[in-house]
Amino acid sequence: MATTNEEMIGRADVNDIGAILAVTNTDVDEVAHAVRAEADAIFTWDYEQSRKALHKLYEKAKTSQWNANDLPWETDVDQEAVAVANRALNGFTDDMDLKGTPFEKWGDKEWIEFGVQSQNWTLSQFMHGEQGALICTAQIVETVPWIDAKYYASTQVMDEARHVEVFARYLDTKLSGHYPINAHLKMLLDDIIADSRWDMTYLGMQVMVEGLALAAFGFMHQMTTEPLIKQLLRYVMSDEARHVAFGVLSLQEYYQQLSAAEIRERQEFAFEAAVRMRDRFLQQEVWERMGVDVGEAVKVVFNAPDRPIFQGLLFSKIVPNCKKLGLLDAADGWLRQKFTELGVIQYEDWVDTGEEYTTLDEVAKDREAAVA
Ligand SMILES: [Fe+2]
Ligand SMILES: [Fe+2]
Repeated sequence: MATTNEEMIGRADVNDIGAILAVTNTDVDEVAHAVRAEADAIFTWDYEQSRKALHKLYEKAKTSQWNANDLPWETDVDQEAVAVANRALNGFTDDMDLKGTPFEKWGDKEWIEFGVQSQNWTLSQFMHGEQGALICTAQIVETVPWIDAKYYASTQVMDEARHVEVFARYLDTKLSGHYPINAHLKMLLDDIIADSRWDMTYLGMQVMVEGLALAAFGFMHQMTTEPLIKQLLRYVMSDEARHVAFGVLSLQEYYQQLSAAEIRERQEFAFEAAVRMRDRFLQQEVWERMGVDVGEAVKVVFNAPDRPIFQGLLFSKIVPNCKKLGLLDAADGWLRQKFTELGVIQYEDWVDTGEEYTTLDEVAKDREAAVA
């Protein structure tokens, strides 16, 4: 029986803006949030390190650790100047016709304030997402039945602690305010953590959330003119590339033994995750804080001429990785069809992340340069 959009994502039309915006964070003052995880913690008595690719990744992780304190924190960040320089990051281009939109009367003051809020929001969501990764990866240490994967995941736990640390420190010392977690991101993280099947943690976190993070960090790293965040992102990306590889390598093996019905469930989960992440990037909380009509603002963003390019780029790692895992074409190409509807299928033949981590290892490159 086919699962409907309603059942998977809570609405029939993926592009129903009203339904997307109806999902909001109603508990912005909460200080802690509990999710019940039903998964079993698994001991393995097989200590043989038999999975060569995972072993190689583990060895790489051990020598690629870095210390957040070594970043150039003394850098002076002028947030308004960054907002002006990074305007392209916000998806608005000079040639857009904003007549009749909430932005019609915006001058430099409003655009700069929007840029500043957008930075605060973006880095806050990165930080919350990193905490999600920290929790998911600690969970994988417990639930995955393979010793090589437990070893590797333990290095990722340390990486993610460092990532939460650097984003929190950047927000506290260089920016001008925090945002609570976006409701779409929260819903996705909750679903990933609550799922009792260990491979679903990998699919949700390592393949989907981290695949998107790797692309988003890469985009921001390329666009930004601010040297501290540039280096911070470059270092975080070195780690993220390994994390995505960890997901792809592990699932490639595990999916071999799954039935068609089980693979179909994975396809649906990948689709749900893709929609949640796309929805989160509409940054509805920023529009709210700017005091504009959120629905009208999001409509403009949705229809911006550069939107398909930007949105597509965010999925440029996810789609090839799903293809490599066989998720695109299983069940008569069900996920291929869904990704086509989301407008991201054109990335299917971009480089997947099974091996990319070796070329993205900036930490090793810097160490070699320092020795030379
Ligand atoms: Fe991370
Ligand atoms: Fe990560």
